[in-house]
Amino acid sequence: MYTYEELKNFVDHCPRCPLSGTRNHSVMGKGSLDARMMFIAEAPGYNEDRDGVPFTGPSGTVFDELLAEIGLRRQDIYLTNIVKCHPPKNRDPLPEEQEACIAYLKYETLLIRPQIMVCLGRIAAQRIIRPDYRITREHGTFLFRKNTWLTAVYHPSAILRDPAKLEEAKEDFRKIQEKYREL
Ligand code: URA
Repeated sequence: MYTYEELKNFVDHCPRCPLSGTRNHSVMGKGSLDARMMFIAEAPGYNEDRDGVPFTGPSGTVFDELLAEIGLRRQDIYLTNIVKCHPPKNRDPLPEEQEACIAYLKYETLLIRPQIMVCLGRIAAQRIIRPDYRITREHGTFLFRKNTWLTAVYHPSAILRDPAKLEEAKEDFRKIQEKYREL
């Protein structure tokens, strides 16, 4: 096993896909290494590429508000992405970029061993839960696999584009809180 610091060092210097040639910073996940809950989004955006930290832009503000709704702060959870480098012009990460990066997420999961994994948005849900996952239909539902509860909620940037999704997201976070309390 590598330590968390060693893993972060691999991610910081990763050459495994072409995004390494365009990034400013790799973005390793961040939060508590003892967290019982891990949130997984798709890939760093412009702000995160500048800062080297997940969700530092406007969608991070939405995420923090949703977390606060259930009485949690970033330091209580672990937050990461499927792909650790920013895809130019905010396009979706390509399957081959996801493939090149997924080992880092697997390793984060091995080190942190969360009881609950929450996918933020379609890309993460399709990678983690099922390739044909339908976020609009299935968000907020749970399944149990390999000793871990899995669910997905709307991506915070989808909520910024369509504020009508905020109430549904709050409802999903309340279900997550229930699961978190019962475990
Ligand atoms: N969007 C993501 O999917 N991840 C981040 O870290 C920031 C924005």
